[in-house]
Amino acid sequence: MLETTTTIEIPLVGEPQVDSAVDPSPSGTGRALYVETYGCQMNLNDTEIVQGIMVRHGYRLANSIDDADVVLLNTCAIRENAERKIHERLKHLRYWRKRKPELVVGVLGCMAERLRKSLLGEQGLVDIVVGPDEYRCLPELVERAAEGEQGIAVKLSRVETYDDITPVRTQGISAWISIMRGCDKFCTFCVVPFTRGRERSRPLNSIVHEAESLWQQGFREVTLLGQNVNSYRDPNGHGDFADLLAAVARAVPQMRIRYTTSHPYDMSDRLIETMALYANICPYIHLPVQSGSDRILQLMNRHYTVAQYLDRITKIRETIPHCALSTDIIVGFCTETEDDHRMTLELMRTVCYDGAYMFKYSPRENTKAWKMGDDVPDEVKSRRLDEIIALQNRISWELNQTEIGKIFDVLVEGPSKRDPAQWHGRTDTNKVVVFPHIGTDAGYVVGDMIRVRINSATSATLHGSIVA
Ligand code: 5AD
Ligand code: SF4
Repeated sequence: MLETTTTIEIPLVGEPQVDSAVDPSPSGTGRALYVETYGCQMNLNDTEIVQGIMVRHGYRLANSIDDADVVLLNTCAIRENAERKIHERLKHLRYWRKRKPELVVGVLGCMAERLRKSLLGEQGLVDIVVGPDEYRCLPELVERAAEGEQGIAVKLSRVETYDDITPVRTQGISAWISIMRGCDKFCTFCVVPFTRGRERSRPLNSIVHEAESLWQQGFREVTLLGQNVNSYRDPNGHGDFADLLAAVARAVPQMRIRYTTSHPYDMSDRLIETMALYANICPYIHLPVQSGSDRILQLMNRHYTVAQYLDRITKIRETIPHCALSTDIIVGFCTETEDDHRMTLELMRTVCYDGAYMFKYSPRENTKAWKMGDDVPDEVKSRRLDEIIALQNRISWELNQTEIGKIFDVLVEGPSKRDPAQWHGRTDTNKVVVFPHIGTDAGYVVGDMIRVRINSATSATLHGSIVA
């Protein structure tokens, strides 16, 4: 699934990921929609928004492609292999098309925005192409496609936030709330500013109301989402991301609150101090560093040096001593030398991240880095990736060993996939905890907070037993 090793299971903005849209109790009676989601949490939430729009127009959610009249692929363009997967999937869909010629197939999201019209030419496999800011056009485009007309809508907006759309969430006790869209950072390697457009934030009050309503519906954890949440600004002048976080924490004091993703440049003291003030804001920060070399960071247009990044880490550790940290790292960016690579390994040893998402650099057309070339050979990228993964696994394993004997509050998520006799949940630091399930009279259900003592640990999982 991922090309990386990770010890904290947060799918990040930009990560290839998941299939979704399974609703055991389909709503509506109209034509059936099936959405497959690839990529980041932002895309998962966008899929819920798309479902919201389509259900409002009388569609119902199908349980599988077999039952669907409309199949939409919500895509990711962050790395070449993410796009390759979609092309493969589209070829696969030819089979369903043969069985059901009236099937409407659409490509949504970042790849739709990037490739636009050329997708419509994809061997007659695609009927509609819709970018991230045009989902309101979907019902009409699908309608026309059902009558044989291809359609495309890929304009980016400066204002669209889908604030009035109620996302159709289909599973779990954990919900995403997208608080802003787009990105203005223009890291030189990244396609997101081109596929998702300029930054724009939703009103604070509306986000707070959504969190309250989610609590009432039984959700026990929310993740506030944006490409760079630290630059959130309430459009009505009610403050920045620290204010929003505090407002949500106060409005739903029993709800676990998480957020992603942060940019180190905008990680303010006030935000870190706000996190420390509220027990329900999870002590966990994903703070992508990308590289441990100042020269590479400058080429990446990251706006910080390693020393400035470490200053943020120090502030976090002083203010929230038990805070877990994870990061994103790219190896093999243009001109990266063995020395640059060693500096990345050094930084990882210094910070001791609980987890990391690690990638080989993948050049993306139109970005600044595209013109800088791609001069690190793939074998070198692979070897460097292996090295950082091995180091991160060791660090994660060592950190997890120090959790043995401790007792954590764990939010119960349900049966473990591998062994239904075991259940799993998460600590507030976002570590997965597996514990034996003692039957239906266990005294807890999904969504409860239980206390678990850790007995053993791998680099990815804590194993424990419930404390009475
Ligand atoms: N190549 C490799 N990794 C990338 N990322 C973003 N763009 C690229 C790229 N062109 C990674 C960054 C970012 C994460 C979401 O994806 O590490 O933080
Ligand atoms: Fe891409 Fe940089 Fe924006 Fe993240 S902050 S989405 S890496 S441009």
